[in-house]
Amino acid sequence: MRHLMSPLDFTTEELEQLFTLATDIEHNMPKYANACKGKILATCFYEPSTRTRLSFESAMLNLGGSVIGFSDANSSSASKGESVSDTIRVISCFANICAMRHPKEGAPMVAASKSSIPVINAGDGGHQHPTQTLTDLMTIRSLKGDIKDFTIGLCGDLKFGRTVHSLINALMRYPNINFVFISPPELKVPSYIKEQLKERKIPYKQVISLDEVMPELDFLYMTRVQRERFFNEEDYVRLKDFYILDKNKMENAKKDMLVLHPLPRVNEISVEVDEDPRAAYFKQVQYGVYVRMALILTLLEIEV
Ligand code: CP
Repeated sequence: MRHLMSPLDFTTEELEQLFTLATDIEHNMPKYANACKGKILATCFYEPSTRTRLSFESAMLNLGGSVIGFSDANSSSASKGESVSDTIRVISCFANICAMRHPKEGAPMVAASKSSIPVINAGDGGHQHPTQTLTDLMTIRSLKGDIKDFTIGLCGDLKFGRTVHSLINALMRYPNINFVFISPPELKVPSYIKEQLKERKIPYKQVISLDEVMPELDFLYMTRVQRERFFNEEDYVRLKDFYILDKNKMENAKKDMLVLHPLPRVNEISVEVDEDPRAAYFKQVQYGVYVRMALILTLLEIEV
């Protein structure tokens, strides 16, 4: 039995198989309509979510399976003090696979260690968000043809943004990727990630100005400032609008640069950018459903 805690749990060859399957699902949806008939997905979300939870639920329903779960810790017995370990033992009696989001880093890992069904980390604190990374990689592969030879700018809250941490981890294994980290000094990418890049001799640079690097980017991965991870509101208010991508800024970008964002967006991308053909963040959401369908099939070892 396999779990998914980090994008590195799959080799690049396994990821390629997953994306091939997701692409087949995209083009032949009816073929998969009953693949998970009789199977149940539990979504255990101790933190708010729109995309990840509903994308998982949509994925399981598209596969002909069923969904149970909770979307708020307060509506579960966690509010009475039940541990994640006990909860997953109970969920294992009800479901065949579980997607779990938790504010504590490592909580889905603890659940996986006690589980008798596959557990998927759907985001743990500021740590990892592997299925968002699968979504991001699938989007890059689908829109550019492959995952290599590009410069990606990651912009915004690189300190607390778990999607950024997972994506950098995953992209380190692909050839000729240049990283540009664009953040205010207070929200720089954690040192442990930069150490990993140095060890692998992968080029990166850190800048504050988005304008300065815009012309060299093939992808711009915008992120929201993570209000829920700040210790005080004052710091959040000071930093929340540090970057706002608008039409003017887009004029300096390559004609085929693509803008990605894990969403939700707050102010960091002006809505006027949505009409720009380079804005790929809503397509990204759609790819998330296909890749989660492929992941469910893979972890349940169902072949179609
Ligand atoms: N991208 C993402 O994780 O969005 P949600 O928080 O809405 O699930």
